[in-house]
Amino acid sequence: MKLDSAYAPSHALTNVRGSAIRDLLKLTEQPDVLSLAGGLPATELIPAQRISETAARVSADPAALQYTVSAGVLSCREVVADYVGSSDVERVLLTHGSQQALFLLAHALVNPGDLVVVDDPVYVGALQVFQSVRARIRALPITAHGIDVELLRQWLEAGERPRIIHTVSNFHNPAGVSASGPARIELARLADEYGFLIIEDDPYGRLRFRGQGIEPIAAHSDRVVLLGSASKVLAPALRVGWMSGPPDVIGLVERLRQGADLCGSTFSQLVVAELLGDQTWFAEHVGVIRQEYGSRAAALTSVLRGTFGERVSFAEPEGGMFCWVRMPGVDTTELLPKAVDAGVAYVPGAAFGVEADFGDCLRLSFATLTPEELVEGVRRLAVAVAASNREDLSH
Ligand SMILES: Cc1ncc(COP(=O)(O)O)c(C=O)c1O
Repeated sequence: MKLDSAYAPSHALTNVRGSAIRDLLKLTEQPDVLSLAGGLPATELIPAQRISETAARVSADPAALQYTVSAGVLSCREVVADYVGSSDVERVLLTHGSQQALFLLAHALVNPGDLVVVDDPVYVGALQVFQSVRARIRALPITAHGIDVELLRQWLEAGERPRIIHTVSNFHNPAGVSASGPARIELARLADEYGFLIIEDDPYGRLRFRGQGIEPIAAHSDRVVLLGSASKVLAPALRVGWMSGPPDVIGLVERLRQGADLCGSTFSQLVVAELLGDQTWFAEHVGVIRQEYGSRAAALTSVLRGTFGERVSFAEPEGGMFCWVRMPGVDTTELLPKAVDAGVAYVPGAAFGVEADFGDCLRLSFATLTPEELVEGVRRLAVAVAASNREDLSH
């Protein structure tokens, strides 16, 4: 009996590119490999003790273990509204991580063929979501100042009418950079002029360890849905994220959400409400993460410069978890197996390309390894590059 058709993916899924990163992570999960590939926060900086005490207290009340409403537990929505600088709880909906916020927004708002503009390089989780609703996708290059609003204006003037623009405004995944103040203001202005919606995806904004914070795009227009998450500042396993935006959009998402998973976890949301709501503790906790990530980023960039000199270029990270490195003349996808043999892993730039290639780029995460391990990781990377150069010469 032929079962192929029973296992055939839907048209929507056929459209979705598999995540090369997830496949790669399997390859790199070998015990001796130092992985700069993952997008995970540092496990040892997760406030496990505090989460466990809070969880014990919260779950003593059986109401914490009940269903909740689709928009999320009110006390947590209030804390999140405060966290994002909004006075209106009706603008906030809690999700199962900010990834679910992306999924729900795409399904609530986008019809097949609608134009959605994403970043290039892209946060792959966003690309997959917009592919799953069969959007027409165009990608705007990320510049040193974030999203290329000049090019966007040209597209708009040429008649393109996006439904949604998705961008990571702070410490981009994977490009590391942040959108400048003027780029944010101009993007917001264009949204108002042309009537598109911006999804400002910001899981990393609190993790700034250098330079001045910049107001979110959401501060400049009401056509912005701002996404945030507890994953990088508390713990990914809590699976609490949120969207904050126009109540009309929140209402649509709430309706869709009932068919997706009814509601989020009351229990997790109550834990997050308590931890984000304890502002003194939270500021101190995030301060520790920032300081540690700052030291790790400094260790990584200084060893990269010391080891490769002019053969690499990258923007000095000011926050977040990633350093996006260009190695002209190196095919980083081909280099990866040699790097894993040498005991180090990264994600090749090609995994993040939409229209551009990024074949000579790599994403290095400085979040999960200690400064010493990062130094050793780069030494191993240099071994792999040298081995690959020798192979090229012998051909
Ligand atoms: C830019 C961006 N958006 C959204 C997410 C989703 O995170 P979560 O669902 O854990 O909130 C990630 C995760 O790495 C991310 O990098």
